Amino acid sequence: MYKNQAAGEGAVRPALEAVHLTRRFGSFTAVDAISFSVLPGTIFGLLGPNGAGKSTTIKMLTTLLLPTAGTGRVNGFDIVRQSVDVRRVIGYVPQMVSADGNLTAFENLLIFAKLYGIPRAERRERIMEVLAFMGLSDMAGVLVRKFSGGMIRRLEIAQSILHLPPVLFLDEPTVGLDPVVRRSVWDHIFTLNTEFGVTILLTTHYMEEAEELCQQVAIMHQGRVVTLGAPADLKATAGVTTLDEAFAHFTGSSIQEGGTYRDAARARRTARRLG
Ligand SMILES: Nc1ncnc2c1ncn2[C@@H]1O[C@H](COP(=O)(O)OP(=O)(O)O)[C@@H](O)[C@H]1O
Ligand SMILES: [Mg+2]
Repeated sequence: MYKNQAAGEGAVRPALEAVHLTRRFGSFTAVDAISFSVLPGTIFGLLGPNGAGKSTTIKMLTTLLLPTAGTGRVNGFDIVRQSVDVRRVIGYVPQMVSADGNLTAFENLLIFAKLYGIPRAERRERIMEVLAFMGLSDMAGVLVRKFSGGMIRRLEIAQSILHLPPVLFLDEPTVGLDPVVRRSVWDHIFTLNTEFGVTILLTTHYMEEAEELCQQVAIMHQGRVVTLGAPADLKATAGVTTLDEAFAHFTGSSIQEGGTYRDAARARRTARRLG
């Protein structure tokens, strides 16, 4: 399985960087000149409501989408000029379900083992290792359509770490999962980070998720990073006790609605009056 990725002595270069990273779709700017830097071994959260630009940012950093301007680096490799190198050092779990329900867990992983160029003689052992790591050993031969949502998510994470990448991207890893199941996914993400030093960038609109998992977060709003830092520091700066309140402080919005905070509060008051 993984060797610990932790860096040795000396100057530590970032595992991940965005430098004025920008993406436009026609005249609409989905990601607007964002910059951040993530040290190796960090769990970094991109926090924001639907439409903030989180997935677009991930797609650029994973080389699936070209930036319109700016750039990014993963383990020192430029996401545009060295995209092949970037792809070798990353794992990616997209926001939408990516496992095939008509195949077993093992068969799903075998496809990715081939895709990642894992030598034939090592495939079975590696697949069984990642299944064991994600708590899915008993499910190897079961069709994925029989899986619960939490098990599918764990399988997708298993899929993304088959080639033992030092940097992992998780786009809304627990969206739609109930709180208990969510915690089991968190435990695995946390272990990947603490035991193996994997650098993880995840997106979420769940404040508890960011608080629980992320050492650093960037709050995204309408394509921009409005603030970044450790959750505790952001709360202290905003003079509030929850990350929800910190989000409202920095964006003037509530994360649930993605609209303006005042509008949302007004809508709720109106709803109460009418209801
Ligand atoms: N391929 C695309 N073409 C046009 N607009 C897009 C495309 N992808 C995303 N967008 C828009 O960019 C904005 C940011 O989307 P996205 O990055 O998916 O946000 P998030 O992941 O934070 O919900 C949204 O307004 C979305 O509609
Ligand atoms: Mg998204």
